[in-house]
Amino acid sequence: MKAVVVYESHWGNTAAIARAIADGIGPDTRVLTTDEASGPEIADVDLLVAGAPVLAFGLPSERMQEAVAATAGEAPAPPDVSHPSLRSWLAALPPGRGRAAAFETRVRWSPGGATGAIERGLERAGYRAAAESGKFIVKGRYGPLRDGEFERARRWGTELRQG
Ligand SMILES: Cc1cc2nc3c(=O)[nH]c(=O)nc-3n(C[C@H](O)[C@H](O)[C@H](O)COP(=O)(O)O)c2cc1C
Repeated sequence: MKAVVVYESHWGNTAAIARAIADGIGPDTRVLTTDEASGPEIADVDLLVAGAPVLAFGLPSERMQEAVAATAGEAPAPPDVSHPSLRSWLAALPPGRGRAAAFETRVRWSPGGATGAIERGLERAGYRAAAESGKFIVKGRYGPLRDGEFERARRWGTELRQG
């Protein structure tokens, strides 16, 4: 089975969850940034998992990425804004026939979310929903992840593999 986990991450929380999900799916699973996940890397994928942080109540836009870049002063670490947003990656996603699932990282109490928009993008490209979306919680605005979230992400990955 060819499985790929694609993510957007500015402070590393979503990237860490992406790696835990991939661990759960299995050792052959590739974990890719949005610019790595193109061409042959995502051709004929059986299981495509895509995730992003919730920013400003939704899936970040390129404009939100500019706002993120401007947080340099207040954030505990400089944000990584070197990759295209997952939103624009989804807009350019070539047709696929595998299964797919969406995940997000977020604070506990917030309206909105990112997984709805991710699921719509995956579905538009022809992927079939593999499971309910995964939502993983951070303790503060910039992280870290709540205790137990890595284990939960790994289990979710294993469930995705088993379909
Ligand atoms: C500028 C900013 C806006 C945010 N807006 C939301 C939000 O609307 N809802 C939410 O649940 N979390 C929000 N968060 C928390 C992030 O979703 C959370 O820290 C996420 O795990 C960051 O992922 P990353 O480290 O992969 O970039 C926000 C964080 C920042 C810095």
